[in-house]
Amino acid sequence: IPELSNPSVCMKDPQRVQEILQSMVKAGSNTVQVITDFDMTLTRFAYNGKRCPTSHNILENSNLITSDCKEKLTELLNIYYPIEIDTSRSAEEKLPLMVEWWTKAHELLVEQKIRKDLLATAVRESDAMLREGFKRFFDCLNQQNIPLLIFSAGIGDILEEVIRQAGIFHRNVKVISNYMDFDESGVLRAFKGELIHIYNKREGALLNTDHFQDLRTRPNVVLLGDSLGDLHMADGVQDLKNILKIGFLNDKVEDRKQAYLDSYDIVLAKDETLDVPNLLKYIS
Ligand code: C5P
Ligand code: MG
Repeated sequence: IPELSNPSVCMKDPQRVQEILQSMVKAGSNTVQVITDFDMTLTRFAYNGKRCPTSHNILENSNLITSDCKEKLTELLNIYYPIEIDTSRSAEEKLPLMVEWWTKAHELLVEQKIRKDLLATAVRESDAMLREGFKRFFDCLNQQNIPLLIFSAGIGDILEEVIRQAGIFHRNVKVISNYMDFDESGVLRAFKGELIHIYNKREGALLNTDHFQDLRTRPNVVLLGDSLGDLHMADGVQDLKNILKIGFLNDKVEDRKQAYLDSYDIVLAKDETLDVPNLLKYIS
């Protein structure tokens, strides 16, 4: 598999990766499902040295919110993002702080009376960028009828708009995320349902048992993420047989490499492409 010789690829146990892939190839594409994170996994972390926006950032940078609100959201980002990627703190320690970040940010967004009919323009005018090779990735899975679950702690309405505008919101795609709740006049009044943040994807998965029940004939999972919390996205999968975990290591590479190698089968260090996930084309 030539993709695995890319310089960005790091593996603790390459033999095991080969075995999982062989087993999936043998079982065939009709036994496979893909579960992926969205922000900084399907989208780029940086382009030409400049950070790319998350789905939250797309709104934050848009003209749908006031400069005062932008300032407050940037303050939150400056406080909480370093905590998100801090290797010296445990997930248990970070969890309440992440809930705090998401809750405060969502409260600020709700105060802005954002209009649903303006979201598409905000996305169109944003710097959102999917990783190189995204079209091949989405089209190939669709052609093979492989279900693709996008499981995101970002904002569902925004990420759906990103993939719709990219022309890849195919029938095989399902999204679990934080969705906005609009009033009758189309103004944001709250976020729907249970909050999904980076450390409760396990609980989010278990709330969606119907989805995984429908896919129980697909025990082979390819998981894509960029946070260690993303490893729990497959916790709802029924009768799991093989799982190939591919992790994007975007930031603080040297500090976090060992932890990523210990949890992800394939670690992609500073790789802005979907070249390695596109090895799915061999499973047909
Ligand atoms: O799609 P995904 O699950 O990756 O979305 C989570 C990402 O959103 C986190 O990596 C976090 O840095 C980012 N985030 C943000 N603004 C917030 C909350 C989270 O950019 N207010
Ligand atoms: Mg992410």
